[in-house]
Formats: sequence, structure tokens, C-alpha cells
Amino acid sequence: MRTAKTVRTVAALAALLSFAASAQTIKIGFISTYSGPGAAQGDQLDKGAKLYLKLNSDKLPPGVKVELITRDDTGPNPDVAKRIAQELIIRDKVEFLTGFVWTPNAAAVAPLTAEAKVPMISMNAAGVHVPEMSPYIARVSFTLWQSAYPLGHWAAKRFKHAFTAVTDYAPGQEAEQAFVKGFTERGGTVVGSVRIPLANPDFVPYMQRVKDAKPDVLFAFNPAGKQATAMMRAYAELGLAKAGIKYIGTGDIVTDEQLQTMSDLALGVITVHHYSAAADRPANKAFVAAYRKEYGEELTPGFMAEGAWDGMDAIFYAIRAQDGKIDPDRTMELLKRYKNPNSPRGPIAIDPETRDVINPEYLREVRKVGGRLENIELETLSPALKDPYKELNKMR
Ligand code: PHB
Repeated sequence: MRTAKTVRTVAALAALLSFAASAQTIKIGFISTYSGPGAAQGDQLDKGAKLYLKLNSDKLPPGVKVELITRDDTGPNPDVAKRIAQELIIRDKVEFLTGFVWTPNAAAVAPLTAEAKVPMISMNAAGVHVPEMSPYIARVSFTLWQSAYPLGHWAAKRFKHAFTAVTDYAPGQEAEQAFVKGFTERGGTVVGSVRIPLANPDFVPYMQRVKDAKPDVLFAFNPAGKQATAMMRAYAELGLAKAGIKYIGTGDIVTDEQLQTMSDLALGVITVHHYSAAADRPANKAFVAAYRKEYGEELTPGFMAEGAWDGMDAIFYAIRAQDGKIDPDRTMELLKRYKNPNSPRGPIAIDPETRDVINPEYLREVRKVGGRLENIELETLSPALKDPYKELNKMR
């Protein structure tokens, strides 16, 4: 009797131990902005990623769990980002790094991902060169060339004289270059350009310069969040709309979660972008509904929340394909072939040559629907646009 009981206990213990050995937690280092003026952008990333986790954790292989270890980069502060990435890699032993609102932060972390062989997925940081900085980076977000270059083409058909006003750091400079190339190669003339500081910008003096130059159209880029609302206000308060200067830009200037705070000032603004919360694709309707159910009916996910959703989907795909046993090189090979025909933004894929995203680009206009401002998609300018900068600069 006693022997039989002992055998049963030992067997039960062995089963428990083998389950413990097979149960594993994959740690994901998530670097976002939780304090300072950029916290609104960081909040979007956080909400999108956590929503994905909540709704999809049951789709991981049996016994595999994911732990998101969140860290605050405090804004576009590369030194802070580098320090927290080091801690995540060395102390927490994360197997993925993700998040990243800001290009300067992603650039600072890039060399660490190569040294430590930790795959990194950019959920937002959009500077065109980011994926080239390490073979362990893939990006699901966007480049500014993907929106600003086709917008330049569109604008050249309607306007003669443009002015550009962008934030003075890599993404803003790239937005300016892309728009100017698109606009001028189709016959438009750029009558002036200003670059506005990233930290604590006062948009008013810059808008005055735009007004004085009397262009037909103002092309703008700012890094979304509260800056998008502040720039819109300066444009309206200085009377640029009344002076007949049309406001256009990348989707960052009218990001969906900020639209309501812009009030009717934003009506009629034309942008090109890959994501609008108003899009009626079923996958997007489900995403927006889930977001509102989780965070409140009055909230709307913007492109950063959606980018975080897609980033988590890419990570889950890599985890599933390896049955939870992560090899960094295999992960990168898998990410290069990542595709999601059903992203909220439409079909997306990673370009295996550049590790950058391929996605649709839409022409949109801010309109009021049922009392709420929305970015209404008017036209699909491209169903699957690769980063035009890399396409134009390919060694031929
Ligand atoms: C970036 O730093 O890459 C960035 C931040 C905010 C944006 C777009 C790009 O809206």
C-alpha cells in the first residue's frame, strides 16, 4: 500500500516538474513614453499593445506565456532609452525589444540589439534609416516618405505654391524632403520652408512666416500628440485658413485620438496616411470596438495604438512559429516574411529586403460624422506601398 502511494506521489511530482520545465515566460521589453510632454503618444502605444495581449494570449503555444516589461523613456531622450534597453537586455534578459515612439531613441538602442542579438520591432519610430541600423530590427509602423511623397504628387495637381513646416529632427526633415520631391517633380514650387524645434515648440511665429509668404498650401508634419493640436490651433488662430492657405500633411497632424480636441478647426484638413480609426474594414471596426470596450467609449485609437497592435501580432507570429523557443536569427528570418492580410489598416507585410513595412496609403479628409470628427478615407493611393525613399535610392 505504502509503496503504491509513494509511486503515485513521485509520478505526480514528476508530472508537475515536467510541466514547470515546459511552461515558459517570454519576456518582452517595452520602451514607451509614460511621462513628460510625449506621454500622450506613449499612452497610445501602451494601450494598443496591452489590448492585443489581453485579447490574444490564448493564441500562444501551450505552456507559453508572454510578459511585457514596460519602461519609461521620458520622451525623445536617447540616453535614457539606451540605459533602459541595456537593463532590459542584461538584467531582465528580454527576448524581444519593442515599443519606440521616437526615432532618436530607436537609433540609440539599435547597436545594442546587434551586440546582444535581441530582435527589436519598431511600433512607431519612423526615421527612414532605423531598420538599416541593425540586422535585428524590423518595423511595422511607417516611414514619412510613405505618406509625404504621394501627398506631394496629389498636391501638385491642385496647388502651385507650397510652404513646408516640419519638426526639426529626422522624421520631420524626411517628411519635408519627401513632400518637396513629390510636389516639385510634378510641377509645384516650394516658396518657403521652416523647421520647428522638437522640444517645447511655439508654433505661432512659424505660422506667421507661412502667412506672410502667401502660399496656396501648407504641408505640415509634427510628431502627433499634443503638438498636433497646438499646431492646428496656431494655424487657425493666425487666420491662415481664412487667408485661403490649405492645411495638409501626414496623418500625424490629425491623429485620431487628438482630433476631438482640435474641434472644427480641423475640418477639411487633407492628409495621407496608413491608418484611420474611421475606416470601415471589418478588422478595423473590430479593433476600434475592442479598444472602446477596454478603455472607454469616448476614446479612439490613433495610428500609434494601431502600430502597437500590429507589432504585437508580428511578435506573436514569431513566437508561435518557433513554438515558444526563441532563436534571434530565426526570429528575424520569420519577421522578414511576416504578413497580415487583416490588419486594422488593411493588408500589411514586412519587406524582406529592408525589414520595413509595406502597407496601403490612403488619402483622407477630416469630416464630421455623427458629431465626431473623423479622418474619412477618400481614396486608396496605393494598396501596398514600399518605402519610396529606399525604392528611389536602390543601387541599380
Ligand atoms: C518618430 O520619432 O519617429 C516619430 C514620432 C512621432 C510621430 C512620427 C514619428 O508622429
